[in-house]
Amino acid sequence: MDLLEGIQSRTSAKKLDAPAPSAAHLEQIVRAGTRAPDHGRLRPWRFTVFEGAAREKLGDAMANCLRSRVPNSLPEHLDAERGKAMRAPLVMVVGAKISKGKIPEIEQVSAVSAAIQNMLLAAHALGYGAMWKTGAAAYDPAVKELCGLAPEDHIVGIVYLGTVTSAGPLVEAPIEIKRV
Ligand SMILES: Cc1cc2nc3c(=O)[nH]c(=O)nc-3n(C[C@H](O)[C@H](O)[C@H](O)COP(=O)(O)O)c2cc1C
Repeated sequence: MDLLEGIQSRTSAKKLDAPAPSAAHLEQIVRAGTRAPDHGRLRPWRFTVFEGAAREKLGDAMANCLRSRVPNSLPEHLDAERGKAMRAPLVMVVGAKISKGKIPEIEQVSAVSAAIQNMLLAAHALGYGAMWKTGAAAYDPAVKELCGLAPEDHIVGIVYLGTVTSAGPLVEAPIEIKRV
């Protein structure tokens, strides 16, 4: 797939199902992520994959996060939260491990965002679909801990990967270029 064509045709999937990216494709996707611009070559990205039954660990952590925010959550709401981890056959939590030093934190998070976009495009080029989500769980210290991150680190994306069963719409964004 031509690079510009891939960029123009990528959309977030509405629904994903098996098959997940194979191990070899997942490696290609992550490798594409690590080609992102990265000030100071800090390699701030951290990739944690939940595939198959392992997704239940993430789902439980997401439900616990809801319970701590809303202590009297209804069982069906907790189940719905838990079910989010099942939205795709493979879920990758992409974190930013923050280094204290001369590179500002925002630039470290920006590098991880660029890595995620590279991964979405790589997945698209390989024939898979993806969704980049966050939500309250992405800010929860226990979810971070499950992914080997400290409270001061960031979850930049919860990336759902699989085969598209329902594609999202391609909505052109207006562009405005100011010339001075
Ligand atoms: C940092 C970040 C967090 C996001 N979190 C969510 C989210 O929690 N839920 C959601 O529906 N979309 C979220 N999005 C937006 C979608 O990933 C997607 O880009 C958007 O719906 C537009 O669709 P498109 O990618 O097909 O253009 C997030 C995007 C970014 C960059």
